Amino acid sequence: MPPTLSPDEIRDVNTRYHDVAADHYDSKWGIDFGDLGHDQVTAKVRKALGRAPGQYLHSLEIGSGTGYFTLNMMRAELIGEATCSDISPGMLAALSANAASLGLDVETVPADAENLPFADGSFDLVLGHAILHHIPDLPRAFDEFARVLAPGGTIMFAGEPSRYGDRLANVPKRAATAIAPLWRRAIGARPAPPAEGGAPDAALEGVVDVHAFAPNELSKLALEAGFADVRVTGEELLANWFGWTNRTLEATAEPSDVPWGWRQYAYRGYLALQEVDRRLLESRLPAAIFYNLMIAARKP
Ligand SMILES: C[S@@+](CC[C@H](N)C(=O)[O-])C[C@H]1O[C@@H](n2cnc3c(N)ncnc32)[C@H](O)[C@@H]1O
Repeated sequence: MPPTLSPDEIRDVNTRYHDVAADHYDSKWGIDFGDLGHDQVTAKVRKALGRAPGQYLHSLEIGSGTGYFTLNMMRAELIGEATCSDISPGMLAALSANAASLGLDVETVPADAENLPFADGSFDLVLGHAILHHIPDLPRAFDEFARVLAPGGTIMFAGEPSRYGDRLANVPKRAATAIAPLWRRAIGARPAPPAEGGAPDAALEGVVDVHAFAPNELSKLALEAGFADVRVTGEELLANWFGWTNRTLEATAEPSDVPWGWRQYAYRGYLALQEVDRRLLESRLPAAIFYNLMIAARKP
C-alpha cells in the first residue's frame, strides 16, 4: 500500500479513477460479452473451483466493474439472481447498460467491500475478479464476505496479481523495450508520438493497486475469516509474457502504423499460449510463478 495514502484516500482514489475509466473500460481491457467472454469466464470459474461449477441461486459480486464476470456467468446459466456491488457508481452505470443490452436483469448496489449493506447469510456465492488488490483492509473485507454468505456458500476470486509472477513479467517488458527500435524498423512503424497529458485517468493509475499476493497470503485471509476447503491456484505464464512483450512493443509505435497482420498474430498467439498454460503448465508448476492468482473456499 503506498505509505502516503490513508485507507479512506485509497477508497476515494479508487472511486474517482474507476468513475473516469468506466466509459472506455471494456474497450481498453477487451471485455467481451459474446462467446469469447463466456468461454473465458466459465474456464476461470472451473479453474478456481477445481471442478465443474454448479448453479448458484443468488450471487454477490464485489468490485463488479462493468459486469465481466457476473454477466458472462448469467449467460452461462451458472447464476440465477445476481447482485453486483462496486465502490464506483460510474462502473455500475456501465454495468447496467451492458446488462440491458444483453437482456439480463441485475441488481446494482454501490458499496465498499469492507462495509457490505446486506443481511447475514444473503448469498450462496460471493465472487470477484481483479478486485482484492484494491481493498485497503482485506481481513475486514473477508469477514464481510463470510458474514453475507449462507452456511455452505462459496467464495471465488480470480485475476489477482501474483507478487512473483509480476516480477517475472518485468523480464519480457525490459527485453521488449530494448528491441523496440529494431521491431519498429522491421514492421515499418514510426515511433509513438509523445503523450500530451496522457489519458484522463493516467495520473491515478499508479495508486489504485495496493496489493500483490503470494499464494499463502491469500489462503491465510480466507482461513482467518473461518473459510474451509481453501484452494489457491495460478494462471497465465507464457500467455502473459507473450502479451506483455507485444503490448510493450506496440506502445512504442504510432498506432496506425502497426499492421493488421501483427495485431492478429498478437491476439491469436495470446489465445494459443493461454491454452498451453492451461493444458500443460497450470497443473504442474507452483501457483506463485503465474501472473494471476485465484482463490476459492467454502463457508462451513
Ligand atoms: C480492476 S477493476 C475490475 C472490474 C471487474 N471486476 C472486471 O474484472 O472487469 C476493479 C473494480 O473494483 C472496484 N473497487 C475498487 N476498490 C473497491 C472497494 N474498496 N470496494 C468495492 N469495489 C472497489 C473498482 O471501482 C473497479 O470497478
